[in-house]
Amino acid sequence: MAITRRQFLKTALGAGIALQVPSVLFNTFPSEAGGSKVREFRFTASRARVNLGRGPDFVAWTYNGRVPGPEIRVKEGETIRVYLRNLLPEETTIHWHGLPIVNGMDGVPGVTQAGVGPGESFVYEFEARPAGTFLYHSHVGYQLDQGLYGPLIIEPAHDPGEHDREYTLMLEDWVMKDGGGAAPTRRRSSMGMGMMGGMMRGRRFANNGGPLLEPVYDGYAINGKLYPAIEPLMVKKGERIKLRLLNPSSSTLYFLRLAGHVLTITHADGNPMEPFRTDVLRIGMGERYDVTFEANNPGFWVLSAMERGAGEGGLRIPFRYQGMQSNEPVSPDFHGPLMFATYGDLRTKLPDEIPSLGRVDRSFRQILSGGMHSPYWTINGRVYPNAERLTVKEGDRVRISYWNRSMMPHPMHLHGHFFRLVNPAIAPDMWISKDTVIVDPMRGIEIEFVADNVGRWFHHCHNLYHMVAGMANTVVYA
Ligand code: C2O
Ligand code: CU
Repeated sequence: MAITRRQFLKTALGAGIALQVPSVLFNTFPSEAGGSKVREFRFTASRARVNLGRGPDFVAWTYNGRVPGPEIRVKEGETIRVYLRNLLPEETTIHWHGLPIVNGMDGVPGVTQAGVGPGESFVYEFEARPAGTFLYHSHVGYQLDQGLYGPLIIEPAHDPGEHDREYTLMLEDWVMKDGGGAAPTRRRSSMGMGMMGGMMRGRRFANNGGPLLEPVYDGYAINGKLYPAIEPLMVKKGERIKLRLLNPSSSTLYFLRLAGHVLTITHADGNPMEPFRTDVLRIGMGERYDVTFEANNPGFWVLSAMERGAGEGGLRIPFRYQGMQSNEPVSPDFHGPLMFATYGDLRTKLPDEIPSLGRVDRSFRQILSGGMHSPYWTINGRVYPNAERLTVKEGDRVRISYWNRSMMPHPMHLHGHFFRLVNPAIAPDMWISKDTVIVDPMRGIEIEFVADNVGRWFHHCHNLYHMVAGMANTVVYA
């Protein structure tokens, strides 16, 4: 259904207080400009009543009234232009997670732009490059956990890929209460909306307006739906199916398995990999994997996550072969000998664009710690914004050595660049290009990148609760 721009403005403005924003506000207006095709998207950030198909209605923070936000899908080389209108009661931004775009469009308040205030608008514009599976999300406070995220898919300009069917799956952790995440507490402390203590059943949070602890989630959804409300995905015998798996969850890592099938990893964080077969796939917050499987085992099967696999709130999505009548889908078994891919098994498919490891111009050691008795999470003992700047020069080969001195995994994410993992466990000719890497408890890992994208770039743990509690700093070009 098409709507005019005038209707759009009228509806959008009318929704300032109202909670229901129809998803039809999402529209694209392809046009030609300066040779590269411009793809336009209109995003209204607002509160909206949602339901995940099971459990209560609640008010989430949304793009265009829905969770997750609309899929942006373009071709490599096109220009993405997003008109953001903020109808939330506080400022917001959009970050294009994983894309090495121009610094001013990166969407980090206080680092690359001023926050977009309530009632204000902002236009994001950047080139869609390279092809791959990316995310977009708010980079303000706890808004990511409240629902402000969506998938950003860049298709290769030419190569259509070798699959017959493709699905995009967002793996989401939800608090099914108004606010969708930790919002009510934050509003209490920062916006003077009065005491809301005692209402926070099922959530733990720090006293004194300090950073919040992770919520206890009520449910794990795929594309905004909880099992069994979720529609089974259809496959046909003989097809090759591609799944784009994205983890925008704020503090949940998943171990995934599809019953009856072996998955082949083809991309990590958007980057092409040598195909690697695995039973179980681990995906941290902010990571993305593209996998394929051969539909060669007719039945009715569930893709689910290990730790949450069986329970009512568990992350589950059924796949049904066409023509199969059975009503009870089969869940995967996580016992017994299983293939379990690690970073060390993966190998990038790109030509070696990053020069070999011989020369390192700058190296930084980053000690990750916190938790236990402190409400803060730190890098080298510091709490953002009172944090280090990792200063680099354009053209530098930069190494970052992480050491995780805490008992929790930290998916570390660098904006504006892809990096290469150089964990010594990985042979020198076996490296992978990523933008988010899980640093396991009491373990270290090293990354390297070429300083080829001038600006000030955020660098942080993608556990949202760790990030807000200080586990962040910046990489700054001198
Ligand atoms: Cu996905 Cu700094 O973000
Ligand atoms: Cu962390």
